[in-house]
Amino acid sequence: DKGLRVADKGFLNTAVIESHITYIDGEAGVLRYRGYPIEQLAEQSSFLESAYLLIYGSLPTNNQFSSFETEVLQHGIMHADAAGFFRSFRYDAHPMAILTSAFAYLGSYYSEANPSLEGQTLFTKGDKASLQNMDKQIYRLIGKATTLAAMAYRVRQGREFVTPPTGLSYTGSFLYQMDYLGHEDYRPNPVLEHALDVLFLLHADHEMNASSTTVLQAGSSLVDPYSAVSAGCASLYGPLHGGANEAVIRMLISIGSPANVPAFLESVKKREKVLSGFGHRVYKTSDPRSYIIRKVADEVFAVTGKDELLDTAMALHDAAIKDQYFVSRKLAPNVDFCGLIYRAMGFPLDFFPVLFVVPRVVGWLAHWRQMMLHPDGVKIWRPRQIYVGAEKRDYVPVDQRV
Ligand code: SDX
Repeated sequence: DKGLRVADKGFLNTAVIESHITYIDGEAGVLRYRGYPIEQLAEQSSFLESAYLLIYGSLPTNNQFSSFETEVLQHGIMHADAAGFFRSFRYDAHPMAILTSAFAYLGSYYSEANPSLEGQTLFTKGDKASLQNMDKQIYRLIGKATTLAAMAYRVRQGREFVTPPTGLSYTGSFLYQMDYLGHEDYRPNPVLEHALDVLFLLHADHEMNASSTTVLQAGSSLVDPYSAVSAGCASLYGPLHGGANEAVIRMLISIGSPANVPAFLESVKKREKVLSGFGHRVYKTSDPRSYIIRKVADEVFAVTGKDELLDTAMALHDAAIKDQYFVSRKLAPNVDFCGLIYRAMGFPLDFFPVLFVVPRVVGWLAHWRQMMLHPDGVKIWRPRQIYVGAEKRDYVPVDQRV
């Protein structure tokens, strides 16, 4: 195989696509959705408006947004018989395992999910019916992401699906489904709803991270988007990716107090432990999202009270950013310190990666739609390898083997 060479480990220097969606400058600590700086969107936009921006490429007019919001929210309702699916899991199943399965389960509901070659060529021709069908799949997946997530939480407490009242925002509907305990007049705390909406916005997309790449790898075979999103969810589950926000809290609990931070950092340098929440493949100075997260944390702690892990987290942060070992490796805090906010808001620890999946469904679908509508059509992602195994050899009958 002339000319083949193995990509750098972990695709360090490999670009798999050209994209119009998200721009990151790892040296300058810049993140933009369709050209808009994340700082401005976090300040002035909402998660669902930025979802429209990421998927369709422009900020929506009032009419465009209200019909998008209506479609997404009305598709949020789950079929009552799906409760049996959720109840089939053990009481202690990790909600990410439930959610990964639930997306594939969702695909089993819809006839249009059956992948077909015709579907793809129609997309390329911009066939109206196929484009409308694609939009419906997108509305369903975004709308149901909150319902499936809430059910992965409620099923463990033996609680049923709940249909949120109309008039709530996307994030408000999610919190309602999470917290509803039976009193009709329950409404989410507006400060916590706004804080979660900003965190959803920050997590919506991040160009070719491991889970987005997984969605495109799966989607390139023309499988339906429900199955491709299920594959992305499995990738995000890992502690090197979305699972890190859960790992950060477990790390802070194991450190125990600010006094133990120096010893912990020594064990990290000896590679006995990993400093979760630090380091990033692209950001080599700072993750711009981490500054916004600090502001959101102050808003939330003003309502919930300070989390007792905060002192340890700050001591760890302040020590690590000054320590030559981490500075020389360009390790800065990444997005996954947001776990402290989720904890203060009362979410269970193993639910934190689910709070990453819900918004990231938008980024996955933005990339999937961009791939499906590419004017050159979809080409299956099938990389090559360099074979370094055994040379040709003949079969040995079992009685002659040593
Ligand atoms: C997310 O891709 C995305 O954009 C992801 C994300 C998104 O929005 O989709 O931003 C979300 O997943 C953030 C990252 C969450 N993961 C963690 O916090 C887990 C801890 N971080 C590390 O595992 C690591 O930093 C990664 C996985 C994030 C990045 O790994 P890389 O790019 O492969 O870097 P590397 O492992 O080659 O590290 C370079 C050096 C190595 O040292 P040497 O072997 O060269 O001496 O830095 C060291 C690593 O050992 N290192 C760490 C470290 N991260 C890297 N050492 C201690 N603790 C760490 N966290």
